[in-house]
Amino acid sequence: MIYLDSAATTLQKPPAVARAAARAVTHMASPGRGGHRPAMMAARTAYACREEAAALFHVPSPEQIVLTFNATHGLNIAIHTLVKPGSRVVISGYEHNAVTRPLHGIPDVKIHTAAGELFHPEQTLAAFREILEGDGADVAVCTHVSNVFGYILPIREIAQLCREHDVPLIVDASQSAGCLDLDFQNLGAAFVAMPGHKGLYGPQGTGLLLCAASAEPLLQGGTGSQSLQQVMPEFLPDRLEAGTHNIPGAAGLLEGLRYVRRVGLGTIEAHERRLIRRLGVGLQKLPGFEVFLSPRPEYQTGVLSFRVAGRDCEELGEQLGDRGIALRAGLHCAPLAHQTAGTLDTGTVRASVSAFNTGEEILRAIAAMGAVI
Ligand code: ALA
Repeated sequence: MIYLDSAATTLQKPPAVARAAARAVTHMASPGRGGHRPAMMAARTAYACREEAAALFHVPSPEQIVLTFNATHGLNIAIHTLVKPGSRVVISGYEHNAVTRPLHGIPDVKIHTAAGELFHPEQTLAAFREILEGDGADVAVCTHVSNVFGYILPIREIAQLCREHDVPLIVDASQSAGCLDLDFQNLGAAFVAMPGHKGLYGPQGTGLLLCAASAEPLLQGGTGSQSLQQVMPEFLPDRLEAGTHNIPGAAGLLEGLRYVRRVGLGTIEAHERRLIRRLGVGLQKLPGFEVFLSPRPEYQTGVLSFRVAGRDCEELGEQLGDRGIALRAGLHCAPLAHQTAGTLDTGTVRASVSAFNTGEEILRAIAAMGAVI
């Protein structure tokens, strides 16, 4: 099989990830729930995971890093903390349902969409500026990279604009964490949410929420701290981490983070970009293919969407699956991104790579796609 679905979950992981997760199952207990060795090992592992993430994302203190179940969990905490009934929220035209569904669930929220053409950061920024300087907003939510198209949004400029207008910003780093540099301190966002199981190479069921300040918990329960008190502790990370942690997940994620730091973001980014350009250029030569390849490579990560005239995307995805090419087809949980890009009626087939894919796999994938057509 050639695995080209890393935007959903990376499948090939550094071997240390599975080893660490398996060891945690049999050797570690609950952090903060005992002074014995297995509990202390669990606490040290969770803390080491925060420390490693703090170093990668330039977060001043490891306590500002909350261990979540996935990016959606972190986004829900951030959105429910900042967005209230009646709030005005500006979002990009490339948001995932993990952002739009929680927003739609809060009564009377006024959502302003800063659209703008695909791979056109100047337009995206101008659209945010127009809304912030016009109707204004109470909160901004923006994805760093589109999960459908790999489009890198101008997140630093958007963050600066939000700071100028005193609007707190929530960043969805689901598709950028582990392949693009993200400096939390300099960005000045209120929250950055990300999964652990994509570009950070951790197990499924892991995620991180980087917090500039405290937040409102979605879950309430035991934390192993301030047990006499009947409200959640005020301090992070305990305030947002009720119940027993996913310690096998944290142990695996720690190894994934170490791998990313060891290889280097720049190396991973360049490798993925090279592969996706090779794939995009190869597919453009096939008859009937419409390939969403950025004319400016620096605005696209290792994610590429395409569709083929007269062919149903989901059927095509299945046919490619039958030939051993694992990719995703359809709307990718992001109808807004398709609406913005003009692909809502068909969806797309999406190929996405990781640090573990090779140029040879890309050539074989192009040949398989040609054969299916
Ligand atoms: N959001 C993930 C994807 O894009 C699951 O496939």
